[in-house]
Amino acid sequence: MPRAPKTKATPAGSPGAARPQAIKTDAPAGAEFEALRARLDPERMPRHLAIIMDGNGRWARRRHLPRVAGHRAGIAAVRSTVETCARLGLPVLTLYAFSAENWKRPRLEVGFLMRLLREYLRRELPLLRRHQIRLEAIGRLRELPPRVRDDLENTCRLTAGHAGMRLVLALNYGGRAELVDACAALLRRARPRARKDFELSEAAIQAHLYTAHLPDPDLILRTSGELRLSNFLLWQSAYAEFWVTPVLWPDFRPRDLFEALLEYQRRERRYGGVPPESDLE
Ligand code: FPP
Repeated sequence: MPRAPKTKATPAGSPGAARPQAIKTDAPAGAEFEALRARLDPERMPRHLAIIMDGNGRWARRRHLPRVAGHRAGIAAVRSTVETCARLGLPVLTLYAFSAENWKRPRLEVGFLMRLLREYLRRELPLLRRHQIRLEAIGRLRELPPRVRDDLENTCRLTAGHAGMRLVLALNYGGRAELVDACAALLRRARPRARKDFELSEAAIQAHLYTAHLPDPDLILRTSGELRLSNFLLWQSAYAEFWVTPVLWPDFRPRDLFEALLEYQRRERRYGGVPPESDLE
């Protein structure tokens, strides 16, 4: 039986202090959304879009605000992006919300991010229900604070029956750690068997990744202009298309998302091969 999400009061000044409000997003709706969607080729939509949400700190600094204000402002961009992707019918959206390296940040910032995540999980349930979005998480989840883990498990359980887009939060996620975990899982499985049965192959590693049940990302989008992968989906990104915008994450809007999708649809994906019409001579 799924547990109801916790609704404990939070002290004033904490991320959870504001009253939950009706979910509002600035995702385009109605005729505006249809006009944007009409520019996209439904046959060439990415099956999996993955986003490195970067630039919250710079957004805040430009406004002489504390870094955490940038993280809070980033929630609105998360909301409108999730809603737009769900409306477009993307099968999978992965958001890099907290990397395995982010623990190095000041304790107060890490604490704020964890509370913001819990607040997000509590508040977004209506949106997840409305769009039949299934929430999942990848990363070393057992190392997250117990209360974050509880809220995460609750929301995953409450949305597990939804038939729409999978929203995957990468939390305490590191691509190298994921590969170590996959190899460790392979070795654990192989140990009781005779050595000759042990097969180390790309397929075997792929099958032990956190994302084994998901298609590899077709498009990786990064905000704030940095040209780095930052330990995100290292294995899975082998043939992903990469799109970077100078826009800082809190300023990211659905029109930026449409721009990325249009550019993605203009790309020719060859996976190391040649275009079908190539001259053989
Ligand atoms: C990188 O910006 C962003 C993060 C480390 C956190 C991302 C979190 C959010 C967008 C809000 C919470 C998300 C969810 C899904 C609940 P940065 O701080 O490194 O920016 P900077 O490079 O400008 O300093």
